[in-house]
Amino acid sequence: MTIAMLIPAAGVGSRMQADRPKQYLQLADKTVLEHTAAKLLALPQTTRLFLALSPTDPYFDQLPLAADPKVCRVAGGAERADSVLAGLMAIDASEFPWTLVHDAARPLVQLSDIQQLIEVCLGSGQGGILASPVRDTMKRGHIPGQGPSLVEHTVERRQLWHALTPQLFPTLLLRDALSRALAAGVAITDEASAMEWAGHPVQLIPGRADNLKITQPEDLALARFYLEQA
Ligand code: C5P
Repeated sequence: MTIAMLIPAAGVGSRMQADRPKQYLQLADKTVLEHTAAKLLALPQTTRLFLALSPTDPYFDQLPLAADPKVCRVAGGAERADSVLAGLMAIDASEFPWTLVHDAARPLVQLSDIQQLIEVCLGSGQGGILASPVRDTMKRGHIPGQGPSLVEHTVERRQLWHALTPQLFPTLLLRDALSRALAAGVAITDEASAMEWAGHPVQLIPGRADNLKITQPEDLALARFYLEQA
């Protein structure tokens, strides 16, 4: 049973306010994308690593990663879901019946968590995602920057999870769900959203909360700190 590894890495990362997309920022000895790709390439299951890149990306070719024979580039799209769908279209489902999608911006994922995800999903035949239980008290309020700054109510947190990546699904089911959800105009921020929308089960596999997605400038300092501890 073979798994295609897919990293959407075509974002611009505007919330980082940096001079380049966040996947190309330096984190200790290499770029964020190189850290992330190295994690997936270290898995014994990885024979092919699909990378969805911006068609105008000027950075990737400068990395040694560009010459890795396992790497296959795909042109990404306007939104993350478009980039993932472009990657799925390039994957031969008869060769890779499963696809594991992992954000370029999550370089801290632990190999043991990925192996756990693979074991549970392939063992059960059902897709799933790494997720971590919510720790903070959760409030529903206005959208940041809009409306009055009052709490509407407190949301019961016992059943709430942070959806992380990797997310692992049967390639054909995910491709079908994602393309139909996008065509229907559904807001899709991860693979699981498309699978849920299409009525497929999604397993929650507990993963480490330090698998953070580098999003804001302060996340880079935190990621550096975690890397030094590893
Ligand atoms: O912007 P956000 O943090 O949600 O991006 C998550 C991942 O999706 C990043 O690795 C980013 O490069 C990728 N992405 C993409 N294509 C886009 C937007 C984001 O591949 N159009």
